[in-house]
Amino acid sequence: MTSTAELLEALKAAGEPTRLRILAVLADSELTVSELCRVLGQSQPRVSRHLRLLCEAGLLERNAQGTHAYYRPARRGTGRQLLDALLPLLSLDDEQVARDRSRLGDIRAERAEAAAEYFERIADDWDGMRKLHVADVEVEAAMVASLDHHTDRGGRVEDLLDIGTGTGRVLELFASRIGHGLGIDLSKQMLNLARSRLEAQGLVHCAVRHGNVYDLNVDSGSVDVAVLHHVLHFLDDPARAIAEAARTLRPGGQLMIVDFGPHSHEQVRTEFAHRWLGFADEEIASWSLDAGLLNTQVTHLENETMTVTLWVATQHADAPAVYPLEAAS
Ligand SMILES: C[S@@+](CC[C@H](N)C(=O)[O-])C[C@H]1O[C@@H](n2cnc3c(N)ncnc32)[C@H](O)[C@@H]1O
Repeated sequence: MTSTAELLEALKAAGEPTRLRILAVLADSELTVSELCRVLGQSQPRVSRHLRLLCEAGLLERNAQGTHAYYRPARRGTGRQLLDALLPLLSLDDEQVARDRSRLGDIRAERAEAAAEYFERIADDWDGMRKLHVADVEVEAAMVASLDHHTDRGGRVEDLLDIGTGTGRVLELFASRIGHGLGIDLSKQMLNLARSRLEAQGLVHCAVRHGNVYDLNVDSGSVDVAVLHHVLHFLDDPARAIAEAARTLRPGGQLMIVDFGPHSHEQVRTEFAHRWLGFADEEIASWSLDAGLLNTQVTHLENETMTVTLWVATQHADAPAVYPLEAAS
């Protein structure tokens, strides 16, 4: 139950022009102070003061990532309730809101361009880098065990979707266990390498195509297992990617996410273009729940420097499903 004092504090915090703009800008993004300064055209001390007030009033959360801090809308409590009531009232036609959104669009486009350029550049070296950073034998064994567990319990693995497939290693890993595999990636160079890999091994039931994690162009309810293997930490909006992946799952289908646990190796930002320094279990579980997925199972796999985690969440039984015509007849 919200106390009157809490509500008043949140209303007072929101009731100021710049702070209202901040809430509008952060409604669908998570930004650092300096990114917000660029959007608002205001100085860092001013913006920081507004952010502090909004956090204290429970309207925003501060997500500390090493030496960076990202600000995002509160996910629960009075602040969340107030945001749900307030944000739909902000007119997108308002000139100021439109200007802020357009600057935010520029920042996002710059980030996406930098990330895309990075992957085109490193594509040829990715398999080598992958061995050093993520392709732990142990991680792959845990992924295979998870898939086998799903099948042993009667789960289908006819259609597998590998989101951000890169050079297609995950398709290769699961190829002998699935009916069809589809890999999707933004980088044409990565896709060329994935095609060569699949062709070289005669994996004709697996294919790759160009696409974006946020808009997969895959039918809703048409996939048994979707995989996001070391993709989320590069993305602007991991929650949106999880929601889009969840949309593709059939009832009982599984989303398998592999990524780093929270860490403090700042250099991965500059050296490897990571945006996020890993993810906490609660964060992934709450994004999965928001996407309609249930029962997130967690496996932590430690190596000397980082924890890699496998999270597996399940699509609920009442989700709508699409099956291929031959399977339906
Ligand atoms: C670190 S690689 C991982 C590749 C693969 N999952 C693996 O484990 O080898 C991340 C991949 O995500 C892709 N990617 C990044 N942002 C993307 C987006 N918005 N849509 C589709 N793919 C994206 C990159 O092009 C890159 O191939």
